[in-house]
Amino acid sequence: MNKGRVILEHFIINGNKPLKGKVQISGAKNAAVAVIPAALLVDGVCILENLPCIEDVQSYVSVLRSMGVVCEFLDESTLQIDASKVCTTNISPEQLKDMRASYYLIGALLGRYKKANVPMPGGCNFGVRPIDQHIKGFESLGAKVVIEHGAVTAHADKLLGTQIFLDMASVGATINIMMAAVFAEGITTIENAAKEPHIVDCANFLNMCGAKIKGAGTDVIRITGVEKLEGKRYSIIPDQIETGTYMIAAAITGGDVKVCNVIPKHMESLTAKLQEMGCTVIAQEDWIKVKAANPLTAANIKTLYYPGFPTDLQPQITTLLTQAEGVSYVNETVFDTRFQYVDQLTRLGAKITLEGRMAVVEGTSRLTGADVVATDLRAGAALMLAALAAEGTTKISNLYYIDRGYEKIVEKLTALGADVRRSNGEDESQIPMLYEA
Ligand code: EPZ
Repeated sequence: MNKGRVILEHFIINGNKPLKGKVQISGAKNAAVAVIPAALLVDGVCILENLPCIEDVQSYVSVLRSMGVVCEFLDESTLQIDASKVCTTNISPEQLKDMRASYYLIGALLGRYKKANVPMPGGCNFGVRPIDQHIKGFESLGAKVVIEHGAVTAHADKLLGTQIFLDMASVGATINIMMAAVFAEGITTIENAAKEPHIVDCANFLNMCGAKIKGAGTDVIRITGVEKLEGKRYSIIPDQIETGTYMIAAAITGGDVKVCNVIPKHMESLTAKLQEMGCTVIAQEDWIKVKAANPLTAANIKTLYYPGFPTDLQPQITTLLTQAEGVSYVNETVFDTRFQYVDQLTRLGAKITLEGRMAVVEGTSRLTGADVVATDLRAGAALMLAALAAEGTTKISNLYYIDRGYEKIVEKLTALGADVRRSNGEDESQIPMLYEA
């Protein structure tokens, strides 16, 4: 999609309507942006199913094509990838600077070709997002890594299995090191590994292709090096964060929504919190039904690594807490600052004060429509939720962020009874761009 056009686009939402009905959850963004580069490790054809139709997947496909990888969509969510003839391990800067997950190209190319030159990761702008743990892992395996001219250059004569202890349970470092170690000689163990569902999904994909990865989903992952991988067909998991966003959408609009094609186990921390707030939440095989409470009860949140409360649902749950009776405390422990969205939420009537990594949320603030700007992907989702609950009309710009991670969000919300449309900016008074997209 032409980002220039999307910068002008915005959502127009007439809020204060309860959401009712069913919504189908798409494939997980954070699994897709790991499994697609992981297919570079395979000297053959892979078919990936249940991919979400989002910008980040399109970005990855275009950069793989620029590397000589044959990528063909068999339908809108099924991608055939043939990485048998990769022609370069140098990724051009303009390709991926906006996407955080570009760092997976380093681990995949280093693992397969023992060399990589990849632009430093872009992505959401909340706090410092270093990749020192990724680099520590690559160097432990025997690679030389240099950061220069805004790119990460890595190469190794040989990759040797080793023990790597992560300073923190980094999702990206865990997946990246796992990819780099697939063909390393001997056994690599990653201690203090992250346990998120998309890590397990990526390990399952690689194991299906012939890798030997044990312990994904625990804090110790063992990778035994193999010679090569074979192309297979694999379907990725549903999106945990999209699921949570729609669960919260039901709660904040006084609605009653059945969220389908989910893995309830991945949602346990949010399910428990919504029940604590008074909502009725029923979780069965592959669906979760949320009936809003009225009134909602205040609750405290502490974001933690999986299976704790996910940081990627922090903006959304904080928005819900503005409608709960009482004062709530939200402690963001994973990222330095992930509250940039609060000043936009305040424009809609939220009453939140920030004290470092803590947000103090004063409940039952009356939300009314206004012009706001998404500052990152999940901030955009939070503003959508606030707009759905607010009285009157809200205009949200910087849709590029939201389109990165939410497939068909207008269609899905409309089907639930929301009054939301995408505007190309021509039919509305221009709003000043407050943020670079
Ligand atoms: C992944 O980012 C996700 N992105 C993020 O989702 C998610 O918020 C995050 O994991 C935590 O769950 C993708 O999967 C593409 P981390 P990542 O490494 O890998 C610090 C979304 O909205 N750290 O687990 O970048 C880091 O600064 C996005 O979908 C280091 O210090 O997260 C952070 O404070 C936003 N050094 C903490 O660890 C490193 O080398 C967790 O980061 C790596 C990380």
